[in-house]
Amino acid sequence: MQLLALAFIVVSTCLGVDAGRVITYPSHIRTKRDAYIVEFESHIPSTHVSRFHAMPDIIVKRHYTNAFNGISVATTKGLDPVHLANTEGVLRVWPVRYHYAFSPSRGSAQLNSTESYLHRMTGVQKTFEDLGLNGKGVKIGIVDSGVDYNHPDLGGCWKTKGCPWQYGEDFIGDKFSMSDADPIIEPNPTPMDCNGHGTHVSGIIAARGSQVHGVAPGATLGMYRVFSCTKDDVLSTADDIILQGIEAAYADGHDIISLSLGGGAWPEEPLSVACSKIVEQGVVVVAALGNDGIGGLHTAAAPAVGHGVISVGSVDNWNITGNPGYITTAQNTKTIILSTPGSALNPFVFLSDVPVVAPVDKEGSILGCSNYTEDLSGKIALIARGTCTFNDKARNALQAGAIGVLCYDNAPGVTSPAIDKSINIPFVIITEKDGKSVADDIAKGPVTIKAPKGEYKVFPSTTGGQISPFSSYGPSPELELVPLISAPGGNIWSTYPLKLGKYTSLSGTSMATPYISGAIALLKQARPKLTVDEIRTLLVASAKPITDATTGLSSSPYQSGPGLVDIYESIKSRAKIDPVALSINNTKMRPIQGYSELADLGTVRWTVRTITIKNTDSKKSVRVHHRDTVANSLSKYFGNGTYAYTPRTWPADTKSVSKSTLPQVYVQSADKTISAGKTGEFTVFIVAPKGLKDSENWYYGGFINFDLQWDGEETHSSYVVPYAGYNGDYTAQNVLSPSSEGLPALVDMNLTAIEDPSKLVIGGNTAALVVFGIAIPSRQITLTLVNSGTGKSLGYLLDGYYEYSGFTCPNCTATAGAALLNGTVFTDEKLVETINAPAGLYHVHLKALRPFGEIGNDDDYQIWDSGDFCIL
Ligand SMILES: *[C@@H]1O[C@H](CO)[C@@H](O)[C@H](O)[C@H]1NC(C)=O
Ligand SMILES: *[C@@H]1O[C@H](CO)[C@@H](O)[C@H](O)[C@H]1NC(C)=O
Ligand SMILES: *[C@@H]1O[C@H](CO)[C@@H](O)[C@H](O)[C@H]1NC(C)=O
Ligand SMILES: *[C@@H]1O[C@H](CO)[C@@H](O)[C@H](O)[C@H]1NC(C)=O
Ligand SMILES: *[C@@H]1O[C@H](CO)[C@@H](O)[C@H](O)[C@H]1NC(C)=O
Ligand SMILES: *[C@@H]1O[C@H](CO)[C@@H](O)[C@H](O)[C@H]1NC(C)=O
Ligand SMILES: *[C@@H]1O[C@H](CO)[C@@H](O)[C@H](O)[C@H]1NC(C)=O
Ligand SMILES: *[C@@H]1O[C@H](CO)[C@@H](O)[C@H](O)[C@H]1NC(C)=O
Repeated sequence: MQLLALAFIVVSTCLGVDAGRVITYPSHIRTKRDAYIVEFESHIPSTHVSRFHAMPDIIVKRHYTNAFNGISVATTKGLDPVHLANTEGVLRVWPVRYHYAFSPSRGSAQLNSTESYLHRMTGVQKTFEDLGLNGKGVKIGIVDSGVDYNHPDLGGCWKTKGCPWQYGEDFIGDKFSMSDADPIIEPNPTPMDCNGHGTHVSGIIAARGSQVHGVAPGATLGMYRVFSCTKDDVLSTADDIILQGIEAAYADGHDIISLSLGGGAWPEEPLSVACSKIVEQGVVVVAALGNDGIGGLHTAAAPAVGHGVISVGSVDNWNITGNPGYITTAQNTKTIILSTPGSALNPFVFLSDVPVVAPVDKEGSILGCSNYTEDLSGKIALIARGTCTFNDKARNALQAGAIGVLCYDNAPGVTSPAIDKSINIPFVIITEKDGKSVADDIAKGPVTIKAPKGEYKVFPSTTGGQISPFSSYGPSPELELVPLISAPGGNIWSTYPLKLGKYTSLSGTSMATPYISGAIALLKQARPKLTVDEIRTLLVASAKPITDATTGLSSSPYQSGPGLVDIYESIKSRAKIDPVALSINNTKMRPIQGYSELADLGTVRWTVRTITIKNTDSKKSVRVHHRDTVANSLSKYFGNGTYAYTPRTWPADTKSVSKSTLPQVYVQSADKTISAGKTGEFTVFIVAPKGLKDSENWYYGGFINFDLQWDGEETHSSYVVPYAGYNGDYTAQNVLSPSSEGLPALVDMNLTAIEDPSKLVIGGNTAALVVFGIAIPSRQITLTLVNSGTGKSLGYLLDGYYEYSGFTCPNCTATAGAALLNGTVFTDEKLVETINAPAGLYHVHLKALRPFGEIGNDDDYQIWDSGDFCIL
């Protein structure tokens, strides 16, 4: 059964829930024991904190007064958080959740010659050269893992006169570890970075060296350190600490706050709430969308999904550089690119030529997933990527005596491997193309490789400008279009702590986010009076949709937003477009009446919207022409209702479908002239693609392009309005993962599926778990124990009540949720009183709220009932 392949974490039960007030997260989310964030109602003054100081068994840890109205507390003596929720003026009580950094993968290095190439693609270089802007006078607060401010490219100073670093603080120290019961928080005097993430992010914004040239090297900076040093290979923190960092950045009066972090999925979560509140105060907040692209749709994280937050997706860099490898055959020597090894302990360095072979494993495969019978002593093994983990391949090669592994990719681009430290062998990835060519060489005769130390070479990337595969997908749970914008985040060369090598290349939406923060600093410098809303509008309207090299259509707005940032065009923009994007849901099949030109479309899904364009040029009128471009449709299901683990894209290419089956846009009186300072209105009909099956849950989209040509000018400027929607009734979608996953299911405590529940007897020492997957975020999930004889519910399973659930997926960070079934249930609505169920025949009733559903309205839930079992 597939279920057994799933790994998930069962954490200690979050007991004590006041329905609607104390929030519980699904059990796969790690929370801090006896720690809560108490959110006050918006009208409550911050002096309200005194009530909590006076309460027994509570320690007020932090008092948030700027970005968030509330406190964080630690409870002693196992105090039930319901007491907190029952205190007057409290809106919600949240468990303190642990967060991981959006851990970047190591890309390969890149030289400065290519960085100007990168900046040319985003309008940044033109802004430097033509407008002479550098972000001077703009303040950017970065909440991250700290910064090595001794780095010469980052100023080499801390808070001295003329230093770029004028603000910042450490909130965590070097010892914090999620695995400790009570993680140690001992802030240092300055936010020095021991991890590298924050130093890399800082360089993307503001490096001013010969190696790295940031987007806004003239900006004034603050670093708010909320991530500690790496422990057990993870860089972690908790949201009460992040909140403290965000608050401090806000209090210091930054124009822009840059957040390469996150977790969760909802605009209601504390980090999102804080960010939205800051945005309301006129501060720009930029946040990474997340690195769960492998899970497909609905993988966007908080706080990027927060209202008004500028969420950022990633595109791959055009040039990748790596350590070169020199392959020599009887005929010639050629250069291939080697990924940066994930482990500094085992660098892939071979100063003189060593033989490369392409061994087959015991199963006759080049995948190296089983043992080798061949002796590989003194040789490097060429192995294909796939089927098993990099660790397995490395281990098998090591066991056969190999001295290194060249693993070739199975998709375009360059990935970087993360090999267990204990497997003592140099391991690098090479491109699929290079790998196949080396395999051909080996088939013809002896082949050797030489890999010098510390040499870098630049190679054009085949995936340059394409959406990075790791970049998370929208939409938000409420179908808002995220990401709002895309920027380069794959294979980015930037500053790194001096102790860790000074420079490196990393990949992640963590890298795309500071790029946008820097770009907005240029925009703010040019046009200081812009509101956050205007900045959002300018970024989106001036972006450039990305053409997907595989399908020939545009990348979906749910992956790329409007496309790649073009900050020069944003700065020079003379139009204001409203709304910035169109989100479409619940369109019914019906003919379009009253518009004769659309009558022959027949019965279709369609919607009609109005777009207004304001000509902000004070003197010239502008002529508007309209075009539209179609984007890929996306789905994570097959027609038979099973998950497609690689997100599906339709159509495969533009030749395979007729144009009439793609999404269609009709703009009424599309071509018109708008006088100086005036506004024009455009009525837009969007027709969903006719070529898609409802049962496959497709999300479609595209771009409405307006070409604006001002009076007397020769060239035009292009503005874009992305549109995207769900092909069907969004509110009717299933939120649980498909039954083909073997979920929901009853499993024993060893996670083995219980095939026949009628043989299950709960009691004594026997308990079971109910495991479930969440395909799209759900506002509320409950699991109740029902007496099968009477049909009456006894109450909620101990961890059978969740709010604000994100997605789970077998390939993502969160793989499944689980609730304990041991006979004890909460009997009351407030989930305070427990009883042990009397002996009898029972089943579990699981309810998951569908999108936009109403809590308490049974019709809005997806339901699952287990088979009957016994409780003794
Ligand atoms: C980067 O560029 C500068 C000047 O443009 C040059 O002096 C320096 O050698 C370059 N660095 C590398 C590593 O190529
Ligand atoms: C095959 O691999 C396994 C596990 O990787 C190892 O324990 C075993 O010794 C190997 N067998 C041979 C013959 O190398
Ligand atoms: C960088 O990428 C561009 C676009 O693919 C390419 O034209 C250029 O040659 C690359 N630069 C180097 C040094 O490879
Ligand atoms: C989608 O439909 C729901 C229910 O009809 C509605 O509440 C919601 O506002 C709509 N969302 C968007 C983005 O149109
Ligand atoms: C569902 O369809 C996909 C794609 O056609 C196929 O690979 C898969 O095996 C099917 N699964 C089932 C359970 O029929
Ligand atoms: C779980 O595994 C342990 C160790 O293998 C075994 O002793 C125990 O009986 C198993 N429990 C169940 C419920 O199967
Ligand atoms: C995703 O998970 C499924 C099920 O565990 C697995 O079959 C598939 O190979 C995974 N895909 C990737 C890209 O890891
Ligand atoms: C079920 O588990 C909870 C939490 O671990 C425990 O407090 C309770 O006593 C258990 N109930 C039974 C009947 O064992």
